[in-house]
Amino acid sequence: MRARTIRDLDPADLDGRRALVRVDFNVPMDEDGTVRDSNRIEASVPTLKYLLEHGARPVLLSHLGRPKGKVVPRYSLAPVAPILSDLLGTPVHFLPETDTDAAVSATETLEPGSVLLLENTRFLPGETKNDPDLSRRLARLGDLFVNDAFGSTHRAHASVVGVAELLDPAVAGLLVESELEAFAQLRNPRSRPFVVAFGGAKISDKIPLIEAFLERADAVLVGGAMANTFLKAEGHDMGGSLVEEDAIEVAEEFLRRPEHRLSLPSDLVVAEANAPDATLSEIVRADRVPSDRAAFDIGPRTRETFEHAIQQSRTFFWNGPMGLFERPGFDSGTVAVARAAAEATAEGAFTVVGGGDSASAIRQAGLAGAVSHVSTGGGAALEYLAHGALPGLEALDKAGK
Ligand code: 3PG
Repeated sequence: MRARTIRDLDPADLDGRRALVRVDFNVPMDEDGTVRDSNRIEASVPTLKYLLEHGARPVLLSHLGRPKGKVVPRYSLAPVAPILSDLLGTPVHFLPETDTDAAVSATETLEPGSVLLLENTRFLPGETKNDPDLSRRLARLGDLFVNDAFGSTHRAHASVVGVAELLDPAVAGLLVESELEAFAQLRNPRSRPFVVAFGGAKISDKIPLIEAFLERADAVLVGGAMANTFLKAEGHDMGGSLVEEDAIEVAEEFLRRPEHRLSLPSDLVVAEANAPDATLSEIVRADRVPSDRAAFDIGPRTRETFEHAIQQSRTFFWNGPMGLFERPGFDSGTVAVARAAAEATAEGAFTVVGGGDSASAIRQAGLAGAVSHVSTGGGAALEYLAHGALPGLEALDKAGK
Protein backbone atom coordinates (compact mmCIF):
# COMPACT_ATOMS: atom_id res chain seq x y z
CA MET A 1 0.00 0.00 0.00
CA ARG A 2 1.43 3.39 -0.98
CA ALA A 3 0.25 6.93 -0.43
CA ARG A 4 -1.69 8.38 -3.35
CA THR A 5 0.03 11.36 -4.93
CA ILE A 6 -1.08 14.42 -6.88
CA ARG A 7 -0.39 12.42 -10.04
CA ASP A 8 -3.15 9.96 -9.08
CA LEU A 9 -5.76 12.73 -8.98
CA ASP A 10 -8.26 13.37 -11.71
CA PRO A 11 -7.59 16.74 -13.44
CA ALA A 12 -11.06 17.80 -12.28
CA ASP A 13 -9.86 17.43 -8.67
CA LEU A 14 -7.29 20.15 -9.36
CA ASP A 15 -8.63 22.62 -11.89
CA GLY A 16 -9.61 25.86 -10.16
CA ARG A 17 -9.44 24.25 -6.73
CA ARG A 18 -7.52 25.49 -3.71
CA ALA A 19 -4.74 23.00 -3.00
CA LEU A 20 -3.66 23.36 0.63
CA VAL A 21 -0.03 22.25 0.50
CA ARG A 22 2.00 21.52 3.64
CA VAL A 23 5.60 22.26 2.70
CA ASP A 24 8.70 22.20 4.88
CA PHE A 25 10.23 25.67 4.65
CA ASN A 26 12.05 25.18 7.95
CA VAL A 27 15.18 26.71 6.45
CA PRO A 28 18.25 28.13 8.19
CA MET A 29 17.81 31.88 8.44
CA ASP A 30 20.05 34.70 9.68
CA GLU A 31 18.81 37.22 12.29
CA ASP A 32 18.19 39.77 9.50
CA GLY A 33 15.84 37.36 7.70
CA THR A 34 18.28 36.22 5.01
CA VAL A 35 17.65 32.61 4.01
CA ARG A 36 21.01 30.82 4.30
CA ASP A 37 20.10 27.65 2.45
CA SER A 38 17.15 27.51 0.06
CA ASN A 39 17.30 23.79 -0.76
CA ARG A 40 14.02 23.00 0.92
CA ILE A 41 12.33 25.85 -0.98
CA GLU A 42 13.75 24.55 -4.27
CA ALA A 43 12.55 21.05 -3.39
CA SER A 44 8.92 22.24 -3.32
CA VAL A 45 9.03 23.51 -6.92
CA PRO A 46 8.07 20.32 -8.85
CA THR A 47 4.86 19.88 -6.85
CA LEU A 48 3.91 23.55 -7.05
CA LYS A 49 4.59 23.66 -10.80
CA TYR A 50 2.49 20.52 -11.30
CA LEU A 51 -0.38 22.04 -9.35
CA LEU A 52 -0.18 25.37 -11.21
CA GLU A 53 0.01 23.63 -14.58
CA HIS A 54 -3.15 21.71 -13.72
CA GLY A 55 -5.03 24.88 -12.78
CA ALA A 56 -4.94 24.39 -8.99
CA ARG A 57 -4.43 27.39 -6.70
CA PRO A 58 -1.72 26.49 -4.15
CA VAL A 59 -2.07 27.74 -0.57
CA LEU A 60 1.06 26.95 1.44
CA LEU A 61 1.47 26.08 5.11
CA SER A 62 4.82 25.56 6.81
CA HIS A 63 6.53 25.88 10.14
CA LEU A 64 9.85 27.62 10.73
CA GLY A 65 11.88 27.09 13.90
CA ARG A 66 10.30 26.32 17.25
CA PRO A 67 8.46 29.52 18.33
CA LYS A 68 6.30 27.48 20.76
CA GLY A 69 2.85 28.78 19.88
CA LYS A 70 3.78 32.48 19.98
CA VAL A 71 4.44 35.07 17.29
CA VAL A 72 8.23 35.45 17.12
CA PRO A 73 9.03 37.91 14.29
CA ARG A 74 12.37 36.34 13.38
CA TYR A 75 10.54 33.11 12.56
CA SER A 76 8.22 34.77 10.04
CA LEU A 77 8.01 33.04 6.66
CA ALA A 78 7.85 36.41 4.86
CA PRO A 79 11.44 36.20 3.48
CA VAL A 80 10.61 32.91 1.73
CA ALA A 81 7.97 34.41 -0.59
CA PRO A 82 10.30 36.35 -2.98
CA ILE A 83 12.68 33.37 -3.22
CA LEU A 84 9.84 31.02 -4.13
CA SER A 85 8.41 33.55 -6.55
CA ASP A 86 11.77 33.73 -8.39
CA LEU A 87 12.01 29.96 -8.52
CA LEU A 88 8.48 29.52 -9.87
CA GLY A 89 8.41 32.61 -12.06
CA THR A 90 4.97 33.33 -10.66
CA PRO A 91 3.59 35.72 -7.99
CA VAL A 92 3.79 34.37 -4.42
CA HIS A 93 1.67 36.44 -2.04
CA PHE A 94 2.57 36.33 1.63
CA LEU A 95 -0.13 36.89 4.28
CA PRO A 96 0.99 37.35 7.92
CA GLU A 97 -1.96 35.26 9.13
CA THR A 98 -2.65 31.55 9.13
CA ASP A 99 -6.03 30.30 10.39
CA THR A 100 -8.13 33.49 10.36
CA ASP A 101 -11.17 34.55 8.30
CA ALA A 102 -8.87 36.97 6.45
CA ALA A 103 -6.68 34.01 5.47
CA VAL A 104 -9.71 32.08 4.21
CA SER A 105 -10.83 35.13 2.15
CA ALA A 106 -7.32 35.41 0.68
CA THR A 107 -7.50 31.77 -0.45
CA GLU A 108 -10.87 32.41 -2.07
CA THR A 109 -9.71 35.44 -4.03
CA LEU A 110 -6.33 33.91 -5.02
CA GLU A 111 -6.04 34.34 -8.76
CA PRO A 112 -5.12 31.29 -10.91
CA GLY A 113 -1.39 31.12 -11.62
CA SER A 114 -0.49 32.60 -8.21
CA VAL A 115 0.54 31.06 -4.92
CA LEU A 116 -0.43 32.12 -1.39
CA LEU A 117 2.04 31.56 1.46
CA LEU A 118 0.56 31.83 4.95
CA GLU A 119 2.40 32.61 8.19
CA ASN A 120 4.30 30.07 10.33
CA THR A 121 1.93 27.39 11.65
CA ARG A 122 3.96 27.18 14.88
CA PHE A 123 2.87 30.70 15.82
CA LEU A 124 -0.43 28.97 16.67
CA PRO A 125 -0.64 27.28 20.09
CA GLY A 126 -2.61 24.26 18.80
CA GLU A 127 -0.22 23.28 16.00
CA THR A 128 2.17 20.96 17.81
CA LYS A 129 -0.70 19.54 19.92
CA ASN A 130 -2.59 18.52 16.76
CA ASP A 131 -5.51 20.49 18.18
CA PRO A 132 -8.80 19.47 16.44
CA ASP A 133 -10.21 23.03 16.46
CA LEU A 134 -7.10 24.36 14.77
CA SER A 135 -7.22 21.51 12.24
CA ARG A 136 -10.83 22.46 11.42
CA ARG A 137 -9.82 26.11 10.95
CA LEU A 138 -6.92 25.10 8.70
CA ALA A 139 -9.17 22.81 6.66
CA ARG A 140 -11.19 25.89 5.59
CA LEU A 141 -8.12 27.05 3.65
CA GLY A 142 -8.27 24.40 0.92
CA ASP A 143 -10.46 22.08 -1.14
CA LEU A 144 -7.85 19.33 -1.13
CA PHE A 145 -4.70 18.61 0.88
CA VAL A 146 -1.19 17.85 -0.36
CA ASN A 147 1.61 16.80 1.97
CA ASP A 148 4.92 17.75 0.41
CA ALA A 149 6.68 18.42 3.71
CA PHE A 150 8.75 15.26 3.88
CA GLY A 151 10.99 16.73 6.61
CA SER A 152 7.95 17.27 8.88
CA THR A 153 5.99 14.10 8.16
CA HIS A 154 7.17 12.50 11.43
CA ARG A 155 5.36 15.26 13.35
CA ALA A 156 1.75 14.52 14.35
CA HIS A 157 0.88 18.20 14.18
CA ALA A 158 -2.34 19.94 13.08
CA SER A 159 -0.96 21.13 9.72
CA VAL A 160 0.48 17.68 8.95
CA VAL A 161 -1.97 15.15 10.41
CA GLY A 162 -5.13 16.87 11.71
CA VAL A 163 -5.92 18.78 8.53
CA ALA A 164 -5.07 15.79 6.30
CA GLU A 165 -7.79 13.80 8.04
CA LEU A 166 -10.38 16.48 7.31
CA LEU A 167 -9.77 17.21 3.63
CA ASP A 168 -10.57 14.83 0.79
CA PRO A 169 -8.59 14.10 -1.30
CA ALA A 170 -5.45 14.21 0.88
CA VAL A 171 -2.43 13.08 -1.12
CA ALA A 172 1.36 13.21 -1.20
CA GLY A 173 3.34 15.69 -3.29
CA LEU A 174 6.18 14.85 -5.64
CA LEU A 175 8.95 15.54 -3.11
CA VAL A 176 7.40 13.15 -0.60
CA GLU A 177 6.98 10.61 -3.39
CA SER A 178 10.64 10.78 -4.43
CA GLU A 179 11.87 10.62 -0.82
CA LEU A 180 9.74 7.56 -0.11
CA GLU A 181 10.97 5.82 -3.25
CA ALA A 182 14.59 6.39 -2.20
CA PHE A 183 14.03 5.17 1.34
CA ALA A 184 12.03 2.15 0.22
CA GLN A 185 15.15 1.01 -1.65
CA LEU A 186 17.18 1.32 1.54
CA ARG A 187 14.65 -0.64 3.54
CA ASN A 188 14.79 -3.42 0.93
CA PRO A 189 18.08 -3.05 -0.96
CA ARG A 190 17.97 -4.41 -4.49
CA SER A 191 21.75 -4.83 -4.70
CA ARG A 192 24.41 -5.64 -2.17
CA PRO A 193 26.80 -5.03 -0.51
CA PHE A 194 24.63 -2.61 1.41
CA VAL A 195 26.84 -0.23 3.38
CA VAL A 196 25.74 2.41 5.89
CA ALA A 197 27.88 5.23 7.32
CA PHE A 198 26.78 6.93 10.52
CA GLY A 199 28.35 10.01 12.05
CA GLY A 200 27.31 13.08 14.01
CA ALA A 201 27.30 13.60 17.72
CA LYS A 202 24.64 11.41 19.20
CA ILE A 203 23.93 7.73 19.37
CA SER A 204 20.84 8.30 21.50
CA ASP A 205 18.98 10.01 18.60
CA LYS A 206 19.73 7.10 16.33
CA ILE A 207 19.31 3.97 18.45
CA PRO A 208 16.30 2.60 16.47
CA LEU A 209 18.14 3.33 13.24
CA ILE A 210 21.37 1.61 14.26
CA GLU A 211 19.22 -1.23 15.54
CA ALA A 212 17.46 -1.44 12.15
CA PHE A 213 20.73 -1.60 10.20
CA LEU A 214 22.99 -3.48 12.60
CA GLU A 215 22.15 -6.78 10.98
CA ARG A 216 20.42 -5.69 7.77
CA ALA A 217 23.46 -3.88 6.34
CA ASP A 218 26.64 -5.67 5.27
CA ALA A 219 28.76 -3.01 6.99
CA VAL A 220 27.93 -0.14 9.36
CA LEU A 221 30.76 2.41 9.36
CA VAL A 222 30.76 4.69 12.39
CA GLY A 223 32.58 8.02 12.59
CA GLY A 224 32.03 11.45 14.17
CA ALA A 225 31.60 11.94 17.89
CA MET A 226 29.28 8.96 17.84
CA ALA A 227 32.32 6.75 17.32
CA ASN A 228 33.90 8.12 20.53
CA THR A 229 31.04 6.70 22.54
CA PHE A 230 31.46 3.28 20.90
CA LEU A 231 35.24 3.39 21.43
CA LYS A 232 34.73 4.27 25.08
CA ALA A 233 32.25 1.38 25.32
CA GLU A 234 35.07 -0.84 24.00
CA GLY A 235 37.10 0.28 27.01
CA HIS A 236 39.32 2.99 25.47
CA ASP A 237 40.11 6.23 27.23
CA MET A 238 38.93 8.99 24.88
CA GLY A 239 40.75 11.91 26.58
CA GLY A 240 38.72 15.11 26.23
CA SER A 241 36.64 13.82 23.29
CA LEU A 242 32.90 14.34 23.19
CA VAL A 243 31.39 11.15 24.60
CA GLU A 244 27.72 10.56 25.23
CA GLU A 245 28.00 9.00 28.69
CA ASP A 246 24.31 8.07 28.87
CA ALA A 247 24.61 6.03 25.69
CA ILE A 248 27.64 3.93 26.67
CA GLU A 249 25.48 1.11 27.95
CA VAL A 250 23.50 0.83 24.71
CA ALA A 251 26.74 1.05 22.70
CA GLU A 252 28.13 -1.84 24.78
CA GLU A 253 24.98 -3.80 24.11
CA PHE A 254 25.33 -3.28 20.32
CA LEU A 255 28.99 -4.32 20.45
CA ARG A 256 28.18 -7.50 22.40
CA ARG A 257 25.91 -8.79 19.63
CA PRO A 258 27.90 -11.44 17.78
CA GLU A 259 26.26 -10.60 14.46
CA HIS A 260 26.91 -6.85 14.56
CA ARG A 261 28.55 -5.30 11.48
CA LEU A 262 29.91 -2.17 13.14
CA SER A 263 33.21 -0.83 11.87
CA LEU A 264 34.80 1.69 14.25
CA PRO A 265 37.73 4.05 13.56
CA SER A 266 41.21 2.56 14.02
CA ASP A 267 42.82 6.02 14.05
CA LEU A 268 41.68 9.57 14.77
CA VAL A 269 42.68 13.18 14.21
CA VAL A 270 43.07 14.76 17.64
CA ALA A 271 43.66 18.33 18.80
CA GLU A 272 43.37 20.38 21.96
CA ALA A 273 39.89 19.76 23.34
CA ASN A 274 38.80 23.33 24.10
CA ALA A 275 40.52 25.22 21.28
CA PRO A 276 40.86 22.76 18.41
CA ASP A 277 43.48 24.09 16.00
CA ALA A 278 43.79 21.98 12.88
CA THR A 279 47.37 23.17 12.25
CA LEU A 280 48.36 21.61 15.59
CA SER A 281 46.41 18.39 15.13
CA GLU A 282 47.94 14.90 15.32
CA ILE A 283 46.99 11.45 14.14
CA VAL A 284 46.76 8.82 16.86
CA ARG A 285 45.55 5.24 17.20
CA ALA A 286 41.95 5.14 18.36
CA ASP A 287 43.03 3.43 21.59
CA ARG A 288 45.76 6.03 22.29
CA VAL A 289 43.95 9.37 22.60
CA PRO A 290 46.06 11.53 24.97
CA SER A 291 44.23 12.73 28.05
CA ASP A 292 44.55 16.42 27.04
CA ARG A 293 43.39 15.87 23.44
CA ALA A 294 40.01 15.27 21.77
CA ALA A 295 39.05 13.57 18.50
CA PHE A 296 37.75 15.82 15.71
CA ASP A 297 37.93 13.58 12.65
CA ILE A 298 38.59 10.01 11.58
CA GLY A 299 42.26 9.31 10.74
CA PRO A 300 43.78 8.38 7.34
CA ARG A 301 43.74 4.60 7.87
CA THR A 302 40.08 4.69 8.83
CA ARG A 303 39.38 6.98 5.89
CA GLU A 304 40.89 4.40 3.56
CA THR A 305 38.93 1.53 5.10
CA PHE A 306 35.67 3.48 4.90
CA GLU A 307 36.35 4.69 1.33
CA HIS A 308 37.05 1.13 0.21
CA ALA A 309 33.84 -0.22 1.78
CA ILE A 310 31.76 2.58 0.21
CA GLN A 311 33.36 2.21 -3.25
CA GLN A 312 32.55 -1.53 -3.17
CA SER A 313 28.94 -0.96 -2.13
CA ARG A 314 25.97 -1.34 -4.46
CA THR A 315 23.59 0.37 -2.03
CA PHE A 316 24.84 3.06 0.33
CA PHE A 317 23.24 5.27 2.97
CA TRP A 318 25.03 8.07 4.79
CA ASN A 319 23.82 9.99 7.81
CA GLY A 320 26.00 12.33 9.86
CA PRO A 321 29.45 13.87 9.35
CA MET A 322 32.65 12.01 10.27
CA GLY A 323 34.07 14.95 12.22
CA LEU A 324 33.99 18.70 12.76
CA PHE A 325 33.63 19.21 8.99
CA GLU A 326 32.68 22.90 9.26
CA ARG A 327 36.33 23.55 10.21
CA PRO A 328 38.92 23.23 7.46
CA GLY A 329 41.47 20.67 8.60
CA PHE A 330 38.86 18.50 10.31
CA ASP A 331 36.80 17.80 7.20
CA SER A 332 38.93 15.13 5.49
CA GLY A 333 36.91 12.15 6.75
CA THR A 334 33.60 13.72 5.76
CA VAL A 335 34.91 14.78 2.34
CA ALA A 336 36.34 11.28 1.79
CA VAL A 337 32.94 9.72 2.48
CA ALA A 338 31.25 12.22 0.12
CA ARG A 339 33.79 11.45 -2.64
CA ALA A 340 33.54 7.69 -2.17
CA ALA A 341 29.73 7.97 -2.34
CA ALA A 342 30.02 9.88 -5.63
CA GLU A 343 32.45 7.25 -7.00
CA ALA A 344 30.14 4.39 -5.98
CA THR A 345 27.25 6.18 -7.72
CA ALA A 346 29.29 6.55 -10.90
CA GLU A 347 29.87 2.76 -10.75
CA GLY A 348 26.11 2.16 -10.61
CA ALA A 349 25.45 2.02 -6.86
CA PHE A 350 22.27 3.49 -5.40
CA THR A 351 23.38 6.11 -2.87
CA VAL A 352 21.36 8.21 -0.43
CA VAL A 353 22.47 11.00 1.86
CA GLY A 354 20.02 11.80 4.66
CA GLY A 355 20.00 14.15 7.61
CA GLY A 356 20.69 17.88 7.77
CA ASP A 357 24.44 17.88 8.45
CA SER A 358 25.47 15.22 5.96
CA ALA A 359 23.27 16.89 3.32
CA SER A 360 25.10 20.20 3.99
CA ALA A 361 28.44 18.36 3.93
CA ILE A 362 27.84 16.80 0.52
CA ARG A 363 26.73 20.18 -0.83
CA GLN A 364 29.82 21.80 0.68
CA ALA A 365 31.91 19.21 -1.13
CA GLY A 366 30.09 20.15 -4.38
CA LEU A 367 28.92 16.55 -4.82
CA ALA A 368 25.17 16.73 -4.11
CA GLY A 369 24.44 16.10 -7.79
CA ALA A 370 26.78 13.11 -7.86
CA VAL A 371 24.76 10.82 -5.56
CA SER A 372 21.40 9.21 -6.26
CA HIS A 373 19.38 11.12 -3.66
CA VAL A 374 19.96 13.82 -1.04
CA SER A 375 17.08 13.84 1.42
CA THR A 376 15.44 17.03 2.70
CA GLY A 377 14.51 15.18 5.89
CA GLY A 378 16.47 14.80 9.09
CA GLY A 379 14.36 13.20 11.82
CA ALA A 380 11.69 12.18 9.31
CA ALA A 381 14.19 10.24 7.20
CA LEU A 382 15.56 8.43 10.24
CA GLU A 383 12.12 7.60 11.60
CA TYR A 384 10.92 6.30 8.25
CA LEU A 385 14.00 4.13 7.83
CA ALA A 386 13.67 2.69 11.32
CA HIS A 387 9.91 2.10 11.36
CA GLY A 388 8.70 2.26 7.74
CA ALA A 389 5.83 4.55 8.76
CA LEU A 390 5.26 8.23 9.44
CA PRO A 391 2.20 9.86 11.08
CA GLY A 392 1.75 12.35 8.23
CA LEU A 393 1.64 9.52 5.70
CA GLU A 394 -0.81 7.47 7.72
CA ALA A 395 -3.21 10.43 7.56
CA LEU A 396 -3.25 10.53 3.72
CA ASP A 397 -5.46 8.59 1.31
CA LYS A 398 -3.99 5.24 0.47
CA ALA A 399 -3.97 3.79 -3.02
CA GLY A 400 -5.84 0.51 -3.02
CA LYS A 401 -7.66 1.13 0.27
C1 3PG B 1 13.36 19.43 10.38
O1 3PG B 1 14.05 20.43 10.15
O2 3PG B 1 13.88 18.32 10.68
C2 3PG B 1 11.88 19.53 10.22
O3 3PG B 1 11.51 20.72 9.62
C3 3PG B 1 11.17 19.32 11.53
O4 3PG B 1 11.48 20.33 12.43
P1 3PG B 1 11.28 20.10 13.98
O5 3PG B 1 12.34 19.11 14.42
O6 3PG B 1 11.41 21.44 14.64
O7 3PG B 1 9.91 19.49 14.17
